[in-house]
Amino acid sequence: MPNIIIVGTQWGDEGKGKLIDILSQKSDYIVRFQGGNNAGHTVIVDGKQFIFHIIPSGILHKSKICVIANGVVVDPEVLLREIKGLNNKGIDIKGRLKISTLCHIIFPYHKILDKLRERKRAQKIGTTGRGIGPCYADKISRCGIRMIDLIRPEVFRSKLEDNIKEKNSIFRNVYNHAGFPFKSVFKDYLRYAAELRPYVSNTVDLLNRAIDDGKSLLFEGAQGVYLDIDFGTYPYVTSSSTIAGGVFPGSGVSPLVIDKVVGVAKSYTTRVGQGPFPSEFNPKFSDFIRKKGNEFGATTGRPRRCGWFDVLMVKEAVRINRISELALMKLDVLDSLKKIKVCTAYKYKGKVFKEYPHDPEVIKNGSCIWREYPGWSDPTCSILKYSGLPKNARNYIKILQDLVCAEIFMVSVGSSRKQVIYLD
Ligand code: IMP
Ligand code: MG
Repeated sequence: MPNIIIVGTQWGDEGKGKLIDILSQKSDYIVRFQGGNNAGHTVIVDGKQFIFHIIPSGILHKSKICVIANGVVVDPEVLLREIKGLNNKGIDIKGRLKISTLCHIIFPYHKILDKLRERKRAQKIGTTGRGIGPCYADKISRCGIRMIDLIRPEVFRSKLEDNIKEKNSIFRNVYNHAGFPFKSVFKDYLRYAAELRPYVSNTVDLLNRAIDDGKSLLFEGAQGVYLDIDFGTYPYVTSSSTIAGGVFPGSGVSPLVIDKVVGVAKSYTTRVGQGPFPSEFNPKFSDFIRKKGNEFGATTGRPRRCGWFDVLMVKEAVRINRISELALMKLDVLDSLKKIKVCTAYKYKGKVFKEYPHDPEVIKNGSCIWREYPGWSDPTCSILKYSGLPKNARNYIKILQDLVCAEIFMVSVGSSRKQVIYLD
């Protein structure tokens, strides 16, 4: 098996969890390289639902090694809860979960700051409130605390003291918030450190040895290209590099070891949180598709905004990531629609944009130029073969494939592992 990167090509929630679950069967290592517990991957196995926020969903396959690499920001309390949840469901993770010594740690002040900043903002981002942005900000400002600090009490004490002193002053003077007592944070985090200690190791060494030994690695992206800190709809983005390129600083492997990048796109588009959304449905149709597709955030439970497939976005995601193969998810949600629209260009001030413009003015104020295709009435959820799909559904898949310039290799028609159709 080759070394593969999986990326979301829209605003996250494309169904990466399910694809990762399928592809993990053929990989030896499954690696998260960015984001934190803002992510939510839902996997359904034998009717049982699992939601993962930090631990790679590959953990459900016995004998796979799952790595939380250095690019991930870790909330130890949430991670420990997730570990316990898996233990309670009888899933043995001993020796299979590896956490990088170099991960940055999320503290209570990050979570509160995330919420306070959001409250103060005129233009809200709609963050998940998990402290992700403030934790990455500390990493870049070089005052972050890493896993390797956390497990060394004296180093940890001094770094936490410095941080709490600075943060408390900001909390009191800018946000009129009482701040945090050093003692209780220190005590809680020492306990987390002791519990996490057995999982912590040098994952840079681990991954590079695995590559030398010919093992196959699957890098699972969280969020999607349009939440990327650089290429997303800034500032309505998350604080990490969600594109394939994020793998390298996020895990310590070389670009030269990657064999392919697989993209994941929903058959329509969704977005949680604020920010522009050119192909968004009207509220009534949005409600209809949200119910049909169960479009509620796996992390915050917020209703997802829904819209038609946006070709410009996915085509640009294909280009930036050099995606050779695309998985098209939730096709069944479009069953029984009379007509299906696709956005193929934007129009702004009389100018037509056929390529994604990376210009917030155009994305926010432009309008969509649509193409319309006939829908299909037969349900697709129990179809196993491409040839069994309704003609118009096959037509829709072929059209999208041509428009976004990537081969669609798989179509998903339901939430279970079995509801997938492979195209040859
Ligand atoms: P943050 O990552 O919590 O800072 O949130 C920034 C933006 O990214 C908000 O619009 C969130 O709703 C969105 N976001 C973050 N993680 C995910 C995800 O896993 N799926 C979908 N949206 C996400
Ligand atoms: Mg999600």
